[in-house]
Amino acid sequence: MTGQPKIKERAVFATKFAAVATTVGSAVGLGNIWRFPYEAGVHGGGAFMICYVVFVFLIGIPVLWAEFMMGRSTRSNIFGAYDKLRGGWLGRVAGIIGILSSLLILSFYSVVAGWTIEYLFSSLLGWLNFTDIGAGHDQFVELTSGWRPVLWTVIFLFCNTFILFRGVTKGIERASNILMPLLFLLLILFCCNAFTMPGFGEGIRYLFKPDFGQLTPSVLLSAMGQAFFSLSLGLGCMMTYASYFSERTGLMRTAVTTAFLDSLVAVLAGVIIFPAVFSFGLSPEAGPTLVFEVLPHVFSQLPGGQCWSTLFFLLLFLASLTSTVSMSEISIAYFCEEQHMGRRRATLVSSAIALVGGLLCALSFGPLSDLTIAGMTIFELFDYFTSNIALPVGGMIVSIFVGWMLNRPASVDRLAVKSFHMSLMMTCLRWVCPGAILLILLNSIGLL
Ligand code: PFF
Repeated sequence: MTGQPKIKERAVFATKFAAVATTVGSAVGLGNIWRFPYEAGVHGGGAFMICYVVFVFLIGIPVLWAEFMMGRSTRSNIFGAYDKLRGGWLGRVAGIIGILSSLLILSFYSVVAGWTIEYLFSSLLGWLNFTDIGAGHDQFVELTSGWRPVLWTVIFLFCNTFILFRGVTKGIERASNILMPLLFLLLILFCCNAFTMPGFGEGIRYLFKPDFGQLTPSVLLSAMGQAFFSLSLGLGCMMTYASYFSERTGLMRTAVTTAFLDSLVAVLAGVIIFPAVFSFGLSPEAGPTLVFEVLPHVFSQLPGGQCWSTLFFLLLFLASLTSTVSMSEISIAYFCEEQHMGRRRATLVSSAIALVGGLLCALSFGPLSDLTIAGMTIFELFDYFTSNIALPVGGMIVSIFVGWMLNRPASVDRLAVKSFHMSLMMTCLRWVCPGAILLILLNSIGLL
């Protein structure tokens, strides 16, 4: 395995475990711990949760499998993969959606990851207030107002660029292997703590008891968007990662394991956040700031809150890095393989674009908060457009392409799956995925 993969000799993940750990590393991140609770809170809890889980299994796993297959069989970035499989103009559309979305997501994601670093340092230095219930919001505003988020966004992007400079497999593989289990253990511990909170029952009911009266087109759209975002789907991220899989990696098993662990982390985050929300009389509808306002209260319940808080934000920061590294890889692989740039130059170009987008998003919480498009700040617009529109459209193209336009995918990647799985996946890719995505998109713009 080489640290700096060149185009002709692509790196390959050393073991099957490394392949799973790395895809889980991409999938598990702020999407599970920050975005899932805030989206569930805004969209009524239980109804959102049920739709999310259904979409993960009905759409997420088949699209993930299809992306894996395309990536490994072509050993290419998203443009190259469609090109080698004769994707024509449809492939070029998917490629453009993928590269554009990856850079937009990297922009707003870096801002939230920047908050994580700020909370990490504040916690380490004892500046986080764990005692004053109700101070969470003021504290968040204080920590993230004005130009400060810009600084933390730049610091985060610098860390991301630094890791990317060191190559595809080395840093990411090692970090994911250790980090994910540790983060998981910490979440379990915080869940146990949630049992002891007075609002536990109410929080759990809010999260798991669906009120189908709340099932609006916007809930369906957001739950589908969350499934795509959380599984890093629809933009060629998993395709690019699968291009580094070895022939021995079981695609179906990797897809199911990734989807299962990813959803589990999101549910655990919900079980931590909502009991705290109800225990402290906060609103579940706080939006993107929810988790950062509530978590200090959670830590305040634990003996040695400062240590737990520091450890948690450290792990969250590292989990964000494994996700941003994977999304950066999409544009870097494209610049290297299609534009024939050197890897370092490609990394710098991607980072520079993300920096510009990141600055705009960071300022959305301060000086640019009045700049809105369709009622959304730049941060919210990037988030909404990528998760709810671009990624589902990208996923629809993957499913139509593999379901209808490829001749017997088994011959493209003969090691893909056993035939029963193959026919199940193909049925989903032909009918269920494109149909459901199209219906939900049309429904949300009022055309159905
Ligand atoms: N799935 C990541 C998360 O849940 O935090 C976010 C993400 C990573 C989205 C990579 C898209 C991507 F290409």
